[in-house]
Amino acid sequence: MTALADPTAAVTPSPLLEARGLTKHFPVHGKSRPARRGLAGRGGAAVHAVEDVSLALPAASVTALVGESGSGKSTLARLLARLIPPTSGKLLLDGAELRLSRRAGRGYARQVQLVLQDPFSSLNPVHDVRYHLTRPLKVHGLAGQGSSLDEATAGLLERVALSPTEHFIDKYPHELSGGQRQRVAIARALAVRPRVLLADEPVSMLDVSIRLGLLNLLADLREREGLAILYVTHDIASARYLADVIVVMYAGQIVESGPATSLTDEPAHPYTQLLLSAAPDPDRAEPPSLAGRGSPPSLVTPPSGCRFHPRCPHAMAVCADSAPPHFEVAPGHASACWLHATDLEPAQARKLAKSPADQPTPAPSGSAPQAGEETR
Ligand SMILES: Nc1ncnc2c1ncn2[C@@H]1O[C@H](COP(=O)(O)OP(=O)(O)OP(=O)(O)O)[C@@H](O)[C@H]1O
Ligand code: SF4
Ligand SMILES: [Mg+2]
Repeated sequence: MTALADPTAAVTPSPLLEARGLTKHFPVHGKSRPARRGLAGRGGAAVHAVEDVSLALPAASVTALVGESGSGKSTLARLLARLIPPTSGKLLLDGAELRLSRRAGRGYARQVQLVLQDPFSSLNPVHDVRYHLTRPLKVHGLAGQGSSLDEATAGLLERVALSPTEHFIDKYPHELSGGQRQRVAIARALAVRPRVLLADEPVSMLDVSIRLGLLNLLADLREREGLAILYVTHDIASARYLADVIVVMYAGQIVESGPATSLTDEPAHPYTQLLLSAAPDPDRAEPPSLAGRGSPPSLVTPPSGCRFHPRCPHAMAVCADSAPPHFEVAPGHASACWLHATDLEPAQARKLAKSPADQPTPAPSGSAPQAGEETR
């Protein structure tokens, strides 16, 4: 099994937008909050929200970013949108590294647009749809006045399938359904003719019955307009439906990436297997849940080695000591897990004691650990 020096190489050879080694640490502040007491005086305590993430978004392609709450998905989307500066790492657009000047930032904002989860809070309630769509057109000088502005606005509504357009153009956000509001938010993002659309949980606040329509709209934008789309979601089933490539994030790091079908049919990483086992399945009687399989770790003091090791049913001694590299498990499919290594020493491959989440009944008090296991 080959360890990849650059995990993005496993996914795509010619990205439009590319992140290399992006890292974001948020300093821990706030002495008054009990959970943070004890950290405040140490200096340097930080939330390790995104750690050494490399990701490539090709044109005319949807990349889904999947992970549990708190895994760093939104932070990564905000880094890609350049709304927050990275602690380290870099971004490349069309293969050229981005500069930090304000002018370059404005040009970047036109090319890379972010759509947020909650269309109610992202649209201004005192303005109608016309205002929301004409403003970016005017600010960026992308349409003239009068009829050409009206045509451009109507064109935007048609692109997101809000037609007849005259039914929507004078409506206020509260007069629209959740799905219609999200379409207006997407139309506003499209107004500046971006090449990359970052959609952070664009359907998670919508009624299940209208989610599919929105996902199909994103698929349409990929096909008709060649957009590079990042689709951020908790829901690996919708990622499989929409995405060409799925990237799985755990505790701030990418643990698996690959073509959507191969990653969901043959998940290589134990965390992806866990996510899939909890995905909705019409044939299963019980509702799915990750509860009972432990919870994500603190990102202020993340676990050593593989960050998943305290929850992993396959954890070995090496997992607690060293972060696994990304191994190519199939063409274009990479997994960061020591199980793929073929040259571990017996001491490294020794199984760690199972996590409490994997033990249905507590061991009787006084019982000794089993041979070959160690307790942590
Ligand atoms: N501005 C901030 N300051 C401090 N910590 C932050 C900040 N923004 C995010 N975090 C922390 O970074 C971690 C990752 O958060 P993020 O919002 O990126 O996760 P997420 O995967 O998008 O979660 P969700 O699925 O719930 O939206 C969390 O521990 C969060 O508390
Ligand atoms: S590296 Fe070890 S702990 Fe991490 S997922 Fe693989 S087997 Fe589990
Ligand atoms: Mg989020």
